[in-house]
Amino acid sequence: MFISFEGIDGSGKSTVIRMLAEYLQHSGYKPLLTREPGGCTLGHSLRPILLNARTSGLSCRAELYLFLADRAQHVREVIRPALKAGQIVLCDRYTDSTLAYQGYGRGLNPEHLRRINEMATGGLLPDLTLLLNLPVHCGLTRAVQRNREEGTVLSEGRFDAESQAFHEVVRQGYLALAAEESSRFVIIDAARPAGDVVLQCLSAVENVLRQRGKGLD
Ligand code: TMP
Repeated sequence: MFISFEGIDGSGKSTVIRMLAEYLQHSGYKPLLTREPGGCTLGHSLRPILLNARTSGLSCRAELYLFLADRAQHVREVIRPALKAGQIVLCDRYTDSTLAYQGYGRGLNPEHLRRINEMATGGLLPDLTLLLNLPVHCGLTRAVQRNREEGTVLSEGRFDAESQAFHEVVRQGYLALAAEESSRFVIIDAARPAGDVVLQCLSAVENVLRQRGKGLD
């Protein structure tokens, strides 16, 4: 089973994914935690280039193709083998990030983006996409605090440094994507405390597992 997590910067995805993975492990599953960009060997090199605040000279198109190169390799090297081995893949960002950030955020052509997403992934879509939705000002406050705590202000600050208006467009873009594909997306209220957010995610995961006859214990 393939689950992607989406949301604006600072929506709390990584904390929630970690907590969800622990729960799934206790229930006898072997979840694989991964992320984009940076979930494969190539991605380790690309991530700092993509997120480095000092590389702001990167053009929208160059940025796009680096995200897609990371995705193509990540699907082949990490995601498909894990799915084949029967693991539950928990992926922090995937194709919808490109539609939301490069499409809605940067204004690149959505049809073009859908086509190259499909080329990069060979058409692999998540079974479930959890959209962590919260007001932009809450997300950015969390993201800035996280960067400060982790000392990543320069190396990971590229997207957090975008304007509030940019993130608002991205957030609305995500909500539009979720409305278009309501059978794949579940919208999670990420402004709630972390434990509560995890419970909402668990309930969505459980629904999909139940549909497949594999409910959680
Ligand atoms: P994160 O891994 O900390 O969430 O940061 C990744 C950043 O990269 C985030 O601001 C969203 C951005 N991004 C895109 O713009 N397009 C993409 O396709 C992906 C995967 C991420």
